[in-house]
Amino acid sequence: MRQPVAVLISGSGTNLQALIDAASAPDYPAEIRVVISNRRDAFGLQRARDAGIEALWIPHRGRSRAAFEAELLEALSERSVSWVALAGFMRLLSEAFLSAYAGRILNIHPALLPAFPGVRGARQAVEYGVRIAGATVHFVDAGTDTGPIILQGAVPVLPDDDDDTLAARILTIEHQLYPRALALATSGQLRIEGRRVGLPDGEPGLLWSR
Ligand code: GAR
Repeated sequence: MRQPVAVLISGSGTNLQALIDAASAPDYPAEIRVVISNRRDAFGLQRARDAGIEALWIPHRGRSRAAFEAELLEALSERSVSWVALAGFMRLLSEAFLSAYAGRILNIHPALLPAFPGVRGARQAVEYGVRIAGATVHFVDAGTDTGPIILQGAVPVLPDDDDDTLAARILTIEHQLYPRALALATSGQLRIEGRRVGLPDGEPGLLWSR
């Protein structure tokens, strides 16, 4: 059975699109059952509708985090969602939410963690002057971008890069990483062993791109 996944977004949803495209293959192990945004104007909601996937807006403003998360959890439970994929979802989730989906929440972050957690990974990389940047898909734990790493993708930082050119290069590798990581997770091929994630034989866990 394909694993029912909710994708949580806050913005443009290009990673969501990569997941939608991957999940359109009949042998993909996950099905995107619902897309949820905390922002009404997130373009990703339109991407979901265009693909025939339910799109929900659950606002976070003007209410407590507990109330926001309670509505989120109810929406997931009503739709029998088994996995949660954060794709540009810009809210931190509490322990209560995390424990409801322990080991079944993935996030993509635009940096080679543990470097540059938090917001604007590409900008942090440019400002710091690193020569290699990239993206990480990881399980979500209670910290900010601290959970066990599933896959990483590396891209060069070129001398003329600014935040935007580097972020765009990182995004292209994100679109390759996330569908692969979600497939590995939802097909039961990953083992969380403390901080580390055990990968199946032959999966290098790393992508390189120019
Ligand atoms: C992506 O670069 C993703 O890694 C990042 O937001 C962007 C969303 O783009 N996420 C974070 O920074 C989370 N801390 P998208 O909406 O086009 O997928």
